[in-house]
This record gives sequence, structure tokens and C-alpha cells, in this order.
Amino acid sequence: MTFQIRQLSTPDYPFVISVIDRWWGGRQMADKLPRLFFEHFTGTSFAAERDGRLAGFLAGFISQSRPGEAYIHFAGVDPAERGNGLGRLLYEAFFQAAQARGCILVRAVTSPVNRGSVAFHQRMGFQPEPGDAEVDGISVSSGYDRHGGDRVRFIRSLLGA
Ligand SMILES: CC(C)(COP(=O)(O)OP(=O)(O)OC[C@H]1O[C@@H](n2cnc3c(N)ncnc32)[C@H](O)[C@@H]1OP(=O)(O)O)[C@@H](O)C(=O)NCCC(=O)NCCS
Repeated sequence: MTFQIRQLSTPDYPFVISVIDRWWGGRQMADKLPRLFFEHFTGTSFAAERDGRLAGFLAGFISQSRPGEAYIHFAGVDPAERGNGLGRLLYEAFFQAAQARGCILVRAVTSPVNRGSVAFHQRMGFQPEPGDAEVDGISVSSGYDRHGGDRVRFIRSLLGA
């Protein structure tokens, strides 16, 4: 199965927004991925296509305020395409882009209820940063995002990657 990785861009926005809630299992996610990611972060954001159809995407950026750090905001794979290594491919494309821009670590934040995302990040070499609570053996930062927005704060070194 061949995927083509390219930069994410503004014309991808309507499609991604139309599928994102379904791809996240019915969670309301569209408002959390504003159009600006498709306009201002294209050098470090990627789309994956198979047969000309968007099968996955990643929106990430280089930190403006923390030299050497990169951040993955959102990544999603069409449910029909999961388990084929596409999430890994998108993350590896981001790791390369971040390394090429002098980064030595990547951060990503996910919700502890998103068990698939937690497991995926662990398989991708991320470690949870210490928080103030624990969910299923994973350290969680309570109230990290708004009221009740508990989050797992993942970090991964790019050194030797
Ligand atoms: C998380 C997500 C991006 C993974 O995409 P994917 O293409 O299925 O992932 P891959 O096939 O590349 O898997 C990479 C590794 O993670 C593991 N993995 C992926 N999803 C997993 C899951 N739900 N449970 C356990 N392990 C998982 C795979 O087994 C694989 O391990 P390996 O390479 O060591 O064999 C996809 O499930 C998704 O879009 N989920 C909904 C959106 C979401 O939660 N995004 C998370 C970040 S914002």
C-alpha cells in the first residue's frame, strides 16, 4: 500500500474539517483545528494521500518561544486506513522536518480518554511528563486545558532518532 506524503495546505482545510469529528470517534474536534494551521504551518504539516484521496494528516509546528522544540498539534488517519503504518509515516515526516530545523525534542498533548492516541504515542517513542494524577498507569496533568481538560503531556527526544 503506497501513501504519498506532501505538505498540508489551505485547500485541504474543508475536507479535513468535514471528517475530523468522525475520525475522532464522534468527539467535537473541528473547532480545535482552525484554518490557520493550513495557512501558517505548512512547512511542518503533512497530508498523506492514497489514490489521490487524503488518508491522513498531521498539523505541527516549531516552537516560537522554546528553541529546539517542536509540537504536534493534531494528527489523524482515516479509520479505514488505520493500522497500516500511516500514523508512523506522518510522525516520521514531522520528526525529519523538525530535525532539519534544528529541533532536538517533540511535544504532543493528548487526552487520557483517547486510549488509542496514548498507546500510539508510546509506540512512537514518546514518554509522558510527570503530572499530578494518574489514569491507567499514565501520568496526567489535571486541568491542563480549560475546566476539566486533563491531558497527558508527551515528550520525545529527536537525538539519535
Ligand atoms: C492515532 C492514529 C493517528 C494512529 O494511526 P495509525 O495509522 O493507525 O498508526 P500506525 O499504524 O502508524 O501505528 C504506529 C504504531 O502505533 C501502534 N498503534 C496505533 N494505534 C494504536 C492503538 N489504538 N492501540 C495500540 N497501539 C496502536 C501500532 O500498533 C504501531 O506500532 P508498531 O509500529 O510498533 O507496530 C489513528 O488511530 C487516529 O487517527 N486516531 C484518531 C485521532 C487521534 O486520536 N489522533 C491522535 C493525536 S491528535
